[in-house]
Amino acid sequence: MAIQNVMVIGAGQMGSGIAQVCAQAGFNVKLNDMKQEAYERGIGNITKNLSRSVEKGLMTEEEKTAVLGRITSSLDLKDAHDRDIVIEAAVENMEVKHTIFKTLDEVAPKHAILATNTSSLPITEIAAATNRPEQVIGMHFMNPVPVMKLVEIIRGLATTDEVYKTIEEMTLKLSKTPVECNDFPGFVSNRILMPMINEAVFTLQDGVATKEAIDSIMKMGMNHPMGPLELADFIGLDTCLYIMEVLHEGFGDSKYRPSPLLRQYVKAGWLGKKTGRGFYEYN
Ligand code: CAA
Ligand code: NAD
Repeated sequence: MAIQNVMVIGAGQMGSGIAQVCAQAGFNVKLNDMKQEAYERGIGNITKNLSRSVEKGLMTEEEKTAVLGRITSSLDLKDAHDRDIVIEAAVENMEVKHTIFKTLDEVAPKHAILATNTSSLPITEIAAATNRPEQVIGMHFMNPVPVMKLVEIIRGLATTDEVYKTIEEMTLKLSKTPVECNDFPGFVSNRILMPMINEAVFTLQDGVATKEAIDSIMKMGMNHPMGPLELADFIGLDTCLYIMEVLHEGFGDSKYRPSPLLRQYVKAGWLGKKTGRGFYEYN
């Protein structure tokens, strides 16, 4: 199936990044959010990223204008009526995703693929909100989307080979590398990454070392580009907590219990870089 018209739901850090790479690859993109301010922030970030590429000589001013011209704003899910694919990147919450997918199933054309950028929620359960589970798939981009090469592609129980193939081809058109995995809590990426981040928060909570020391040890000792607490702030502490809850519930194993300190930060509204404060402060 040929894909040309894309809709991205959620103009936050992931949705705006996905919209940017899709527009750069020549797709027409509608970028949807519930809030106009969120759209403005998202398109502002895209413009900043593209301007940096122009400054570095990686793109001309005309190319930047053309990329931005391929992105239009949307505040209504009904705008999915002429799309070949919708990629959902709203909050990591099953109820929210169910509501979105139920509506999309009603308004998107019959041929449209409904993809989700969920970090951990079961694709099969999201698909169950629709009458087209064979056309629902996980398309898990990594943050920051314009930089990271991987897209983890997750098949739901009913996803067809044809839909998988279409998504694989689209991922390659985005100059990214698709890697396939099955529908298990946290998939591969967050089943392994998030318990490490959660353990770093327990390490801080236990007073084993300062946040700076924990991050330095993991950065220098393991050659990670960011320490785990810095990375948690970058991902969003709310998203980290939601993912740990999915792992805890999905496996029923206490080794996945979220750190109480992580829970406390989220309750305080200290969600990391996006709110200006998490384990570190940002201005
Ligand atoms: N958007 C677009 N481009 C960005 C960017 C952003 N938010 N942040 C950095 N960049 C670009 C810079 O412009 C720069 O580009 P050039 O090489 O063309 O100059 C390049 O990335 C490197 O940036 P910097 O030199 O400023 O900084 P850095 O070398 O420290 O790299 C980083 C920044 C790429 C973010 C690096 O720190 C890194 O790889 N961090 C770990 C990221 C990671 O683990 N991501 C996965 C998170 S988990 C996930 O996504 C899944 C989930 O479900 C939670
Ligand atoms: P974010 O908080 O930056 O953005 C979420 C956006 O979705 C907000 O702008 C919000 O207004 C919007 N939104 C919420 N409900 C909506 C609805 N019903 N309709 C339309 N828009 C809605 O979050 P994010 O970090 O971009 O994460 C988005 C999704 O991507 C989550 O499922 C998350 O698990 C996943 N993800 C996150 C990361 C990461 O590192 N942050 C990486 C990979 C995947």
